[in-house]
Amino acid sequence: MNILVTGGAGYIGSHTCIALLQAGHSVIIADNLSNSKSETVMKVMDIAEKEVTFYEIDVTNAEAVDIIFKNYKIDGVIHFAGLKAVGESVEKPLEYYHNNIVSTVVLTKACHKYGVNRFVFSSSATVYGENNVPFFETMDLLPTTNPYGETKAMSERILTDITRSNPIFSLSILRYFNPVGAHESGLIGEAPNGIPNNLMPYVTQVAKGKLEKLRVFGNDYPTIDGTGIRDYIHVMDLAEGHVAALENLTEGVHVYNLGTGKGTSVLELVKAFEIANDIKVSYEIVDRRAGDIASYYADTSKAKNELGWTAKRDIVAMCRDAWRFEKNYKDFVESK
Ligand code: NAD
Ligand code: UFG
Repeated sequence: MNILVTGGAGYIGSHTCIALLQAGHSVIIADNLSNSKSETVMKVMDIAEKEVTFYEIDVTNAEAVDIIFKNYKIDGVIHFAGLKAVGESVEKPLEYYHNNIVSTVVLTKACHKYGVNRFVFSSSATVYGENNVPFFETMDLLPTTNPYGETKAMSERILTDITRSNPIFSLSILRYFNPVGAHESGLIGEAPNGIPNNLMPYVTQVAKGKLEKLRVFGNDYPTIDGTGIRDYIHVMDLAEGHVAALENLTEGVHVYNLGTGKGTSVLELVKAFEIANDIKVSYEIVDRRAGDIASYYADTSKAKNELGWTAKRDIVAMCRDAWRFEKNYKDFVESK
């Protein structure tokens, strides 16, 4: 299939492009590089040893999107492009609503115009809010605490309504848990701008000496060691989950959790990282972070039963691959 991958130069998109190419699909990337670099597209081609078509465009721009659909016979769209920083979304809600909602509307309009009926959407476990764990796809969604989360819940509703109005439209909504790690080549991975918000990139930067110590946000949660529990998933497992979702897509709306189903605490992750890489990670316990939930993880049976997909890589592989990428990443050297 010819797959249009929006946000394909980004963290999850780039890994998914590799999985798509390795599964024999052709890839057209549309990315405005607002949170990524064009070199990543080159690295994707190097790793997969296949060509990729790259459009540097903003997918909220309907004319620019139209050109791609006019030039290629697109068989399906995977829509990763979006802004994703929770804190920033509270400061700049309009940017988040505009970027994340308009992009979804523009792309689905183009799909309608050109008769493209396969659509895979990047959603997030954040849409479950503070539900009981594990999270099941059938649960009623609870309000999220920030505009970013609301853009995901709203996009899910918009796409669901569009699918219900068109009996041949096939939609897969993928709710990611906590993607971490990197391609095992160490060539591509997660490279956030500035100080990382998320745990794994913070840990790798402490290990590298770029940041002094990890701040563990609270050790008084009702969990095994008091620190927050999340369902970390290797980004290549997540990437392969997209290929499975695309290849098994049938008419109607399908929602899948993509996680491992296993919870890991902050301190367990730090310990696993130290053992996997034989390196010390200094940390201190500080106050809880506002808006954090104590513990959540996925029920993964639906993806297993319907897509034949389960995550294969364990927390050790996630830590090892995240560190391999961080060690190779030149940003540190260049910024010195
Ligand atoms: P990322 O920032 O690395 O990738 C997103 C890509 O989209 C970037 O390359 C960026 O330049 C591009 N982009 C943003 N707005 C665009 C626009 N209007 N037009 C064209 N390109 C645009 O983020 P990621 O971690 O790879 O996340 C991919 C998707 O998965 C996002 O929709 C995100 O909300 C969702 N998601 C991510 C996580 C996570 O923890 N990383 C968790 C749940 C859901
Ligand atoms: N944590 C720390 N110190 C840090 C960073 C995080 O102790 O410096 C802790 C958090 O308190 C939490 C755990 O590590 O217990 C994971 O935090 P992350 O920030 O890595 O991830 P979140 O679960 O808070 O959120 C992530 C994405 C969201 C997405 C959500 C669900 O940032 O966008 O996963 O997919 F919605």
